[in-house]
Amino acid sequence: MNTIVALLYLIASILFIMGLKMLTKVKTARRGNMLSSSAMFLAVVATLLDMGTVDYRWIIAGMVLGGLVGSILALKVKMTAMPEMVAIFNGFGGGASALVASSLVFAVGFQFSTVDNTVTTFLSILIGGVTFTGSLIAFGKLNGTVSGQPILFPGQHLLNAILLLGAIALIVLTVTGAESGSGLTAELPVVGSARTAVIAVVAIALLLGVLLVIPIGGADMPVVISLLNSYSGIAAAAAGFVLTNNVLIISGALVGASGLILTQIMCKAMNRSLANVLFGGFGAEPAAGGGGKGGDAYPNVKSCGAEEAAMILEGAHEVIVVPGYGLAVAQAQHVTKEFADALIKRGARVRYAIHPVAGRMPGHMNVLLAESNVPHEQLKDLDDINEDFKNADVSIVLGANDVVNPAAITENDSPIYGMPVLKVWEAKTSFVIKRSLSPGFAAIPNDLFNYDNNLMLFGDAKKIMGDLVKEIKELD
Ligand code: TAP
Repeated sequence: MNTIVALLYLIASILFIMGLKMLTKVKTARRGNMLSSSAMFLAVVATLLDMGTVDYRWIIAGMVLGGLVGSILALKVKMTAMPEMVAIFNGFGGGASALVASSLVFAVGFQFSTVDNTVTTFLSILIGGVTFTGSLIAFGKLNGTVSGQPILFPGQHLLNAILLLGAIALIVLTVTGAESGSGLTAELPVVGSARTAVIAVVAIALLLGVLLVIPIGGADMPVVISLLNSYSGIAAAAAGFVLTNNVLIISGALVGASGLILTQIMCKAMNRSLANVLFGGFGAEPAAGGGGKGGDAYPNVKSCGAEEAAMILEGAHEVIVVPGYGLAVAQAQHVTKEFADALIKRGARVRYAIHPVAGRMPGHMNVLLAESNVPHEQLKDLDDINEDFKNADVSIVLGANDVVNPAAITENDSPIYGMPVLKVWEAKTSFVIKRSLSPGFAAIPNDLFNYDNNLMLFGDAKKIMGDLVKEIKELD
């Protein structure tokens, strides 16, 4: 039986790696997801076989209940609420690891017998607990139940450091007790026993999760969520060591590493260091000139209607659409595809320029556009298309703002200075479709709106694109 279980674990691990690889491309992402889910099912079956006699009623009840809640949530979630959903899933993952490790401690006959099992049990509890409450706060910040503003107070970082050092001290104390061979029953200085140390670390972890995430602005939450995702993987890997379960170690390590890589990619695309995201309190002070409807910052703004825009588009051969967060809010992806098709029918070449942090989660724009069956070849990454704007007749900024803000290049005191941006202003004409002159996520004005070759089309992205489709069709 051991060989069969080991073989099934090996297959599941290979499938996890293949699934993860497939998730890196839009074309294969769906299959990658299916493959990884099947691998997880295989791993569960192998674990049940490994455990031998278990009360299947509990297992089935847990699977049915969890599956039901998960399916309902996944079916109901709006695309714009996806980061919240990921946050809560990470939290549950971390919480599960912390629960597994702490329940073991309180199981009959458990002993902290070695340094390894003591350290990994505590790590699983500490990291899992931080992930759990941190993710709940991230979830709250994103859905508005917790203030999206950074919550800062004097001595915050010192308090966090003291709590972390306290947890480490408790782990060291317990390790010393375990090494002396007296395990959980060891009389530990200050805390009394190893069990009390575990309870104290659970409390510290839960508090630390809250304290670490409240100073971070709501808009930075996607980065934090990706980091918490990585933590949940590390907690699961630690739980794998506690349970001596290889597939849990491997899958936890994969989640931990991929979460870290994603965090790094997002920080780079926003030109922020991870330390700045975690400790910078971005958004606590409104950035210079930002906020409000922002009329004063735009003395040269010009707007037009769909009819005028269609007349300019009539002669356009090269059109580049730049989707942003507003496309997701307006759910304008289907009508945008219709718009592109209408232009292509008239002989134009239409491409989409995808900025790595457009929207509010990695791959946000790719997912939306794939949903409306935009051919993959029309989607271009920032590096592949940025030099093509100068050859474009028209660029259409569709509910995007920060990712097309020239301040990232021209103003070295701007909070987004250095962030790579799409140079839409280099096209002969740029259209910006949004409801007002309000700033985007970074809360800074966008001088693009003042540019001579820029025209604003004010309104909801879906409505404006619908009007444009109508006007373009009438050109025939
Ligand atoms: P933003 O800069 O946030 O701008 C989005 C714009 O969409 C807003 O200015 C808003 O203007 C407009 N909008 C909202 N609803 C609309 C609707 N129904 N119809 C038309 N327009 C609408 O978005 P972006 O350019 O996509 O940039 C993303 C920002 O989020 C970046 O600063 C990035 O660093 C940050 N961020 C991204 C991520 C990831 S991974 N994507 C993670 C963390 C942070 P109006 O209100 O005037 O309509």
